[in-house]
Formats: sequence, structure tokens, C-alpha cells
Amino acid sequence: MTIGQDLDRTLGAYLADGTALEDLIDREGRTLGARLMNDPGIHELEMRKVFTKNWVFVAHESELLSAGDFVARYIGLDPVIVARGDDSKIRVLLNSCSHRGGRVCRSDSGNTSDFRCPYHGWIYDNAGNLTAVAFEREAYGSLDKERYGLRTARVATYGGLVFATFDAELPSLEEYLGDFKFYLDMNLRFLDGYWEVAGPPQRWVVDANWKFGAEQFAGDGYHVPSTHRSAAEVMGNSAGDGGRGNWGVNFNEPRYGHGGRCLGVGLAYGLSPEQLAESGLSPAQQDLLATRMLPVVGTVFPNCSFLFNDVLGGPVATIRTWNPRGPEKMEVMSWVLVARDAPEEVKEERIQSTTWAFSASGYAEGDDAEVWAQVQRSIKGPMGREQRFTYLSTTPHSVKDWRDGQDFPGPGEVHLGFTTEDNQWNWWLRWFECMNRLG
Ligand code: FES
Ligand SMILES: [Fe+2]
Repeated sequence: MTIGQDLDRTLGAYLADGTALEDLIDREGRTLGARLMNDPGIHELEMRKVFTKNWVFVAHESELLSAGDFVARYIGLDPVIVARGDDSKIRVLLNSCSHRGGRVCRSDSGNTSDFRCPYHGWIYDNAGNLTAVAFEREAYGSLDKERYGLRTARVATYGGLVFATFDAELPSLEEYLGDFKFYLDMNLRFLDGYWEVAGPPQRWVVDANWKFGAEQFAGDGYHVPSTHRSAAEVMGNSAGDGGRGNWGVNFNEPRYGHGGRCLGVGLAYGLSPEQLAESGLSPAQQDLLATRMLPVVGTVFPNCSFLFNDVLGGPVATIRTWNPRGPEKMEVMSWVLVARDAPEEVKEERIQSTTWAFSASGYAEGDDAEVWAQVQRSIKGPMGREQRFTYLSTTPHSVKDWRDGQDFPGPGEVHLGFTTEDNQWNWWLRWFECMNRLG
């Protein structure tokens, strides 16, 4: 029997050797089976149950400023075109022809009125409608073209981020983000249109499962002093000493699996009190912004992460996606964000400092990629596959006595103090919920 077939409808999912997916999680003891990171059946099932059933980040609005602009992206393994139509509406279209599956868009980005399938020549407009069929009269007499548009996903944006889903039942993006919006707002939604991407995303492949990146960015401050120790030493900062990299506020949205961390090393936005007042942020958010106690890292479930901080040798602002390319391979897609109205030299500084630390050749990025690929190799053998990953570090959810006797003002499930493994565990609980869901 293979995973993802009839049994998962009634009994939860099973692997090819009969192991129940539920056997790979110990909910009481907070451990996970290492096979979650390399089993081909799990990979196949999560493409359907995780990637088509959640809001997946596909683009930043600033990549699609004009009618006809498009970028080619992925939702799991499904290629999609994110296109701004002639009516200015952003759509997400399956990049697969309704005739016999051809890839109708073969460029990474561009501006076009039409997508033309190279196989037999069907033509779609930038809203996904089938507008012309080669030799229609000779081949078909006539064809009801309205029935053969490209498949479209639901699209929604938040703070400039464009998300899409093929699930008609999923709640709205706003509801899906839930309490996480409070945190996203502080870097992404204030001063509407503040950010733009500094060009196309950088892309690179890591020989590790995509979930390593997603869960780590959701809350793993614990790895910083060890994984990034040499980088911290070179930079002469305290990220490696168990100090600023570890103490702060871990927050998560338990319903949907998002998680992140507020540390006192947020970007210095340098906003005047007047600008803050105009930002639309609540007083609590303004207070956190003023003290730079900002979300510096986080993951929107399943695979969109962000990093905004000023601790690693210069300001860093990046969003990225961890794209599965098989059970043991991911493609990272990473965008640098710059303030749209900043002078060119400020933009250049942001691009340089972000690229220097977090890019294919970034000194901090390479640290993570290396340890993930090492884990991947360590769990490949028969003994390694039986390993359990542990998530024992935990504190009670509490906002009490955060600072000067005050409660922490942010919503969601909050853990104060030394970084814990609660956020990552919560990410996994959501993953299991998706995987075990019927249908
Ligand atoms: S597969 Fe696209 S036209 Fe035939
Ligand atoms: Fe890291």
C-alpha cells in the first residue's frame, strides 16, 4: 500500500511499509520520527495535503507593478504563473495547458499579454482565458474555449505579500494569519507600500528537506550560538554568546502553525512620532517598534519565512520560501527588501548587508544549509531513520512580567525569556493536522 491512497481517508496516513504517520509523532513526549524528513511517501502526501491546502506565498506585490507583469513560481511542486492582468488584478494560474499539460510560460518573469503553449499552440490571455486555438476549425470545428482556461488559484495579499491556495474551503488569508498579523504588521504592513523587492529572488538548492528551513525560522533561536558561532565571532557581536540571539519573545499562532521571535535587534526604522501615528499601528505595536523589540525572524506556515534584523553586520531584510524539490532537496527562493523611497545608496547598503549574511553565499546562510544537509545524511541509513527529533524545551504560555513588571502586549501563544522549542512543535502540530485531514 502506498501513502496517500484510500487508507488515509479512514485511518490516518500510512507509509509504504505500513508505519502509521501517527507513529512518527509522540505528542506527550514531544518527539518526531526522522523519517518525516526523508520518506518519499510523506513527501508525496504533503504536496497535496500541505501545499494545496494552505495559503502559500508566491510573490511580492512590487514584482507586479504593471498590467501584464508576471513571475513564475511554485506551490509545492505545481508550477504557477503569478500575473497582473490587463484589468490590474493579480491572478495565480497553473502553468500547465488545458489541452495536454504543456508549460505555457517558460520565462521566470516578464510582461506579456498572452501565454502561448509551445506544444500545439493554444494561447491564453494574462487572465488565464483560452483565447485562441491553433487550427481550431480544422482540428475541432469549433471549441468551447470558455471551458478550457488555465486552472486558477485563490489569491489574497497582506502587507505586500501575495499568497495563493488551490483550496476553496480554506478560511480567508486574514483569518489564516490570525494573531500573527499583529507581528507581521510591525515589519510589513505599516506605511503602506514601504517595501519593494530589490530585483528577482536569488535561488539556490540545498540538499535537505524543506521543513528544516520552515521549522527553524519559526522559532529556533537555540541553534544560533552554535551554528553561527564563527560568524558571530568574526562579526564581534553577541549573537553567539547565548545573549541577544537567545533571549526575547517567542510567539506563535497555534491554530495555523505560524511562529516567530521578537528580539531587541529589530530594524531601526527611524520613524518620527508623527510617522508612527500615521502608520496605523496600535499603541502597543508602536511601543515595540520604538524600542526595536520587533519580530526579527518567523515563518508563515507552511514555507514562507522572513528575517528583519540589525545584528549581523548591517541591516538585513529578506523574505524567502523553502520549496520542496523532492524528499531530500529544497530550492530556496530569497528576496531582499528595500525601502522603496530610500536613496539609492541606502538601498545598495541594504542589498549588500542582506546578501552578505543571507544569500546563496551568505556567511550565516551557509551555516544553516550545512547543518541541515548534514542532518539529512545522518538520518539516511537504517539506524538513522529510526532517530527521534526532540522538542523538549518548553515554557508555559505567558505574557506576565515581560518588562518592568508589564505584560507583553502581543497576542497569540507567547513564551518569554530564553528561546524554547514550542514554536517549532506548534509548526509540526499544524503539519500533522494537515496531513491527517480527510480528503
Ligand atoms: S499541450 Fe498545450 S497546446 Fe497541446
Ligand atoms: Fe540560522
